[in-house]
Amino acid sequence: MSITLVTTLADLKAVSAALLAATPGGAGTLGLVPTMGALHSGHATLAAAAVAANDVVVASVFVNPLQFGDANDLARYPRTTEADLALLDAAGVDIMFAPSVAEMYLGGEPAVRVTAGPLGNLYEGASRPGHFDGALTVVAKLLHVGRPETGLAAPDAAGRPAYRAYFGQKDAQQLALVRRMVADLNFPVDIVGVPTVRDDDGLALSSRNRFLSAEQRESALVLSRALRLLAGRAAAHEPLDVASAAELIRSAPGVELDYLEVVDPQTLAVRAENCQDTPFTGEALALVAATVGPVRLIDNLPLG
Ligand code: PAF
Repeated sequence: MSITLVTTLADLKAVSAALLAATPGGAGTLGLVPTMGALHSGHATLAAAAVAANDVVVASVFVNPLQFGDANDLARYPRTTEADLALLDAAGVDIMFAPSVAEMYLGGEPAVRVTAGPLGNLYEGASRPGHFDGALTVVAKLLHVGRPETGLAAPDAAGRPAYRAYFGQKDAQQLALVRRMVADLNFPVDIVGVPTVRDDDGLALSSRNRFLSAEQRESALVLSRALRLLAGRAAAHEPLDVASAAELIRSAPGVELDYLEVVDPQTLAVRAENCQDTPFTGEALALVAATVGPVRLIDNLPLG
């Protein structure tokens, strides 16, 4: 095993600086892959994207209490440290940073937090109040502590920093909010979105899929089916008829639809036009969320 496990902020800085110093020229690029562990092949794809593009890669594994509204949800979130370490090692990651809560939030919960703003209250935020404030707070912190003091190369010819952070496109709202935070607050990091990984039957990979029974998993396939239906109509410039796609989801046994929305891919503002009866034009993103048995699932697909 060549990956190094570190659990303190000080060790993270020291080990990443040493690895960068050992790269040709003594300076290089660093990729950060923030995760909450319970890693699956979707995370392996994130890690592989970071490994392919950077000299040194750090993956963080930290179940962030700030982004859980429900204590039971936090308690039952899967913790699989040994398996996570093995997966990251196989993907070529150099450092797994797995701090304790006390190490991350010195003296307890932070009093000052990042506020996600209006977008943080829509879609996932509507049913999980405070979730995105908690997620952005820990991402802000990880982006700071993951940035080495020494050894980073100069920005590339296009001015992009040698420090990059990788997020899955499956969490489209989180990715949009992280991009917005980094732009609004001038974080010196390049945010890279990595496409969603799906099982052969179309189900988007998620750490929560393990809680689905075989029947619930079968029902959950309706989410990606409905998204593909919309994508097919968009590609053919047909009316999207979102209402019928929503009905398809509602008709699946045990599936409770929360939302199915067609939104602007950058701002995630709802697209009011071209979503029902008139021919679809332009680009959009279809977002879906539903509860299936004990699990809340989200998915999305670009349209057009
Ligand atoms: O997407 C996740 O796994 C988490 O929200 C993140 C970005 C690691 C922050 O805790």
